[in-house]
Amino acid sequence: MSAIIAPSILSANFGKLYEEIEMINNSEAQWFHVDVMDGVFVPNISFGFPLMKPLKEKATKTLDVHLMIVDPDRYIKTFADAGAHVLTVHYEACTHLHRTLSEIKNQGMKAGVALNPHTPVSLLRDILPLCDLVCLMSVNPGFGGQKFIENTYNKIIELKAIIVEMGLNTLIEIDGGVALNNAQLLVEAGADVLVAGNTVFGSENPTKTIAELVEITK
Ligand code: DX5
Ligand code: ZN
Repeated sequence: MSAIIAPSILSANFGKLYEEIEMINNSEAQWFHVDVMDGVFVPNISFGFPLMKPLKEKATKTLDVHLMIVDPDRYIKTFADAGAHVLTVHYEACTHLHRTLSEIKNQGMKAGVALNPHTPVSLLRDILPLCDLVCLMSVNPGFGGQKFIENTYNKIIELKAIIVEMGLNTLIEIDGGVALNNAQLLVEAGADVLVAGNTVFGSENPTKTIAELVEITK
């Protein structure tokens, strides 16, 4: 089984958004990764609900929404109504993470937790049974096209061991700097989902690049 490839719409050309959505629909990617940034939790503002609308209407694959916002509890229901299938919040942005993840599930979505590069995976032990997905940030969140942080491999291996030890099915997602030259190593370390922004949308032939990512992670 290959990794789930999740092209990050943040790197798409919004001037031809419908074409970009169609390209992913017709590709071997299984998910759309949707990066929502508020300019407070991260030093950048991306997009919000106006972009969820065309995605909900046109995308035929899982909408994997990554919230890089403070106090995400305010918007859980709105993202459920907007079509999110997986909703990921940041560990560093939630005071009552148990409550937040429970509410995401109550709203019928899969619940994800993202960790910044400096946050240890061991902090997740008590909350892991509620996590359908853990997103390990392999760059400091806020921008596409950044350099991959090598310590991520150690975090994947450590997290995978905890997931296995606890008998869980939690998916490990890697977000930031995923490329053709590290995808295989990431999967060998234990990654299940690879987000790819610049690697896909910055390539000559995004459809082919997605197929290559699928092929090398088999
Ligand atoms: C970074 C975002 C990522 C980003 C990845 O804050 O969470 O999803 O779009 O982009 P690349 O693959 O270009 O590093
Ligand atoms: Zn992301």
